[in-house]
Amino acid sequence: MFETLEAQAADAILGLSIAYRADTNPAKVDLGVGVYKTESGATPVMRAVKAAEKIRLDTEISKSYIGPAGSPAANTALQQLLFGADHPALQANRVRSVQTPGGCGALRVAAELIARANPDATVWVSNPTWVNHIPLLGSAGLNIAEYPYYDYDSHSLQFDAMLTTLEQVKAGDLVLLHGCCHNPCGADLSRQQWQALAALAKKNGFTPFIDMAYQGFGEGLNEDAYGLRLLATELPELIIASSCSKNFGLYRERTGMLAIVGASTKQADATLSNIANVVRGNYSMPPAHGSAIVETILGDNLLSNDWQSELAEMRERIRSLRGLLVKKLVEKDCQQDFSFIARECGMFSFLGLSKAQVGQLIADYSIYMVDSSRINVAGLSHSNVDYVATAIVAVLDV
Ligand code: LMR
Repeated sequence: MFETLEAQAADAILGLSIAYRADTNPAKVDLGVGVYKTESGATPVMRAVKAAEKIRLDTEISKSYIGPAGSPAANTALQQLLFGADHPALQANRVRSVQTPGGCGALRVAAELIARANPDATVWVSNPTWVNHIPLLGSAGLNIAEYPYYDYDSHSLQFDAMLTTLEQVKAGDLVLLHGCCHNPCGADLSRQQWQALAALAKKNGFTPFIDMAYQGFGEGLNEDAYGLRLLATELPELIIASSCSKNFGLYRERTGMLAIVGASTKQADATLSNIANVVRGNYSMPPAHGSAIVETILGDNLLSNDWQSELAEMRERIRSLRGLLVKKLVEKDCQQDFSFIARECGMFSFLGLSKAQVGQLIADYSIYMVDSSRINVAGLSHSNVDYVATAIVAVLDV
């Protein structure tokens, strides 16, 4: 049977880690997969996570099944983190959620839920978007269409073109939006732009579908949720896929949440029962360890404050690295303007290099990045930024 299968190329992002690990150049730099790194290139377990794991080890009394929705306390805590504790949608009891195996699990369950609710639905995704969005959503059978988002020449949002395209989106269709820290381009909607989008969704009746994978990596936990909270105030329905991979550093624990806002309590309940049904027919129930850590941290003031301050340190570090790379490029008389890197936010920015130039950075300098020239800014450090800037200037000069 397997002879019918053709070998597949390595994943565009995950394949980079394999190549990086195999590279013996001591100067190698990993700007590929989006994981946070310290100055020494490590991705450590966060302090509050370590502490919460110790507490869980001492207090956990059962490994029995927990059910398709995961832990109710983790769901409540993460809903409050996303929406803010007093959000009107929470007060109206219109939010439901389930724990999922990472943000990917949430996206995939959402896709199956959408296919069930409206098999003809089209999901509109930004151009560009995260490379795994289309496979995750498309393999559930959904139609995918694109709206313009980022202008590669000016390194800025094409908001007018985005709105013009979204004017055509009809009720029953969905618009996938990055809640903050757009992956791959790092250019986010302003508050005014979120407001214009909310007005358009209200007028046309399409459903926003928010991927919130980097809450806390942009401006702050609350600031980064501005758009999500606004849409949840203004609209009857919303879908949110959220991830704890980055902000809790729980990457391999696969900890995420799918949340929906329903038009009424009754509709929210009916939707939740369908989500549980999709989950049961898929992986039955989510892993518990990661969400138990999150629940422990968010349920304890000391741990929660410590988590927030470590997250703020990570955010500030990335922000300062953005400024440092721009400064180094200017110092090296780079003829291109890279100041946009300091204006963008979150983990990623496009350098705006060609595939050939990216290939040269990998082959000649062992500097790894996605071939779209997306860099994980967190992979820079005070010790490698000079080398990276020198290499960028060199490949631009060829
Ligand atoms: C990334 O975009 O690099 C991360 O979200 C990791 C992944 O799974 O692609």
